[in-house]
Amino acid sequence: MSDLTTLLEVGGPLAALGGGAAYTRAKHPALYWSTVGLPISTARLLGSYGSVMEACGLTVAPSRLRVLAVKATTNREVRPVPPRRGLLRPTSTGLRIRLRLAPGQEPADVAASAERLRHAWGVHAVYVTTVKPGVVELRLVGYDVLRKVRMPRKAAGGFLKVPVALREDAMPFVRDYRTIPHQLTLGATLSGKSMYLRHLITGLATQPVALVGIDCKRGVELAPFTARLSALATDPEQAAELLPVLVKEMEDRYDLIKARQGIAPDTPDEEITSDIWGLPEHQQPTPIVLFVDEVAELFLVATRKDEERRDEMVTQLIRLAQLGRAAGIYLEVCGQRFGAELGKGATMLRAQLTGRVCHRVNDEASAKMALGDIAPEAVMAACAIAPERPGLAVAGDTSGGWSRIRTPYLSLGDAAETCRDAAHLVPELPALKPFRPDVPLRPVEIPAPVVKPRPVTD
Ligand SMILES: Nc1ncnc2c1ncn2[C@@H]1O[C@H](COP(=O)(O)OP(=O)(O)O)[C@@H](O)[C@H]1O
Ligand SMILES: [Mg+2]
Repeated sequence: MSDLTTLLEVGGPLAALGGGAAYTRAKHPALYWSTVGLPISTARLLGSYGSVMEACGLTVAPSRLRVLAVKATTNREVRPVPPRRGLLRPTSTGLRIRLRLAPGQEPADVAASAERLRHAWGVHAVYVTTVKPGVVELRLVGYDVLRKVRMPRKAAGGFLKVPVALREDAMPFVRDYRTIPHQLTLGATLSGKSMYLRHLITGLATQPVALVGIDCKRGVELAPFTARLSALATDPEQAAELLPVLVKEMEDRYDLIKARQGIAPDTPDEEITSDIWGLPEHQQPTPIVLFVDEVAELFLVATRKDEERRDEMVTQLIRLAQLGRAAGIYLEVCGQRFGAELGKGATMLRAQLTGRVCHRVNDEASAKMALGDIAPEAVMAACAIAPERPGLAVAGDTSGGWSRIRTPYLSLGDAAETCRDAAHLVPELPALKPFRPDVPLRPVEIPAPVVKPRPVTD
């Protein structure tokens, strides 16, 4: 009987503790990491560092001096030397540690062992980045940060930089228009493309930037942001009128840059400009970001005449993509597919869109359209995205690398609210004035239908 009491006394609290930990781990992984996961992984890392490095083949033979020193002072066996490690730096999502590579090692050697390291130290994933020649940083991520995305508090935003999603290594994924002027975002329906756009629009809404939308799904995606948009086209006819105006605006800006370069032959070299950012501040035109949601709708043709119009629009978009960067005009194109079937010039336009983000797609061909020229593994990663995780995507890097990213959830209401609050920031651009959408002061109340809808049955 007393055995049973002891068992209950000791086992009960232990089971409760275990159950509590398991619950926290499943429901609040961030809390679990900082209270339980972090101390355990730290202890494992510190305790097993040498032997794990040796097992991964990341050690080198000790120097002769070291052999002598060890033999002279102790009678321990002389072990191979692991890379020298820096301080452990815990973060809210994982751990960071810097390693100094031994002569003859390269970062790829460490990266090749990342999977082994993650198992040895019991963390969700290990990423390796090069800090400077000879030094790599191991970024240990404690749990799956993409399951419930929370952006880090000090995500580095800035002018024309929007931290739009979280990467799987818990770093923010920043859409930086100055370094990657144009981007293509692909994905099947309900894969999270519009959510991605929503984040970009709200991120840019508070900055001195003109936002222009083309949303040929009758404006259902972009209309809620009307208050902050400088122009909105909701069908191909309007888009066909808007695009030449943008091209004209771009040409005017080129003239401005040229004039600036032309007038003063004695201008110092560093002031000679080849884009608007080199102009004196008061002359710099406002940057324009053009959002195109559902590009296929824009290029849809029914008649011969439509076809001419489509070809013209493709040409105009290509011009904007080729020359827009210097004029501060940036493209953000979204679609389900983007291949030759969109018409003459479509693949050429695609080639101009440097940044690539690919959400869940229905077939490999679509993933290839976005990521084919980046890496074959990226295409496979995009094909493996599960429908249960909308917003998950594979983003191509400037460095030719790629990573999985996911946007945090942002409700349409909150996004629209941000745009309404920023309505006073709509910049003065006379050329776009005719395209400025009517701004509803309040969200429109849609009256209840008079006829009771009948469910469709077949
Ligand atoms: N990052 C995300 N987290 C949670 N839900 C998301 C996320 N991104 C999208 N969703 C949800 O998925 C659905 C489809 O998203 P949407 O952006 O409209 O897709 P698409 O434009 O590709 O058709 C929406 O109901 C949206 O709320
Ligand atoms: Mg959409």
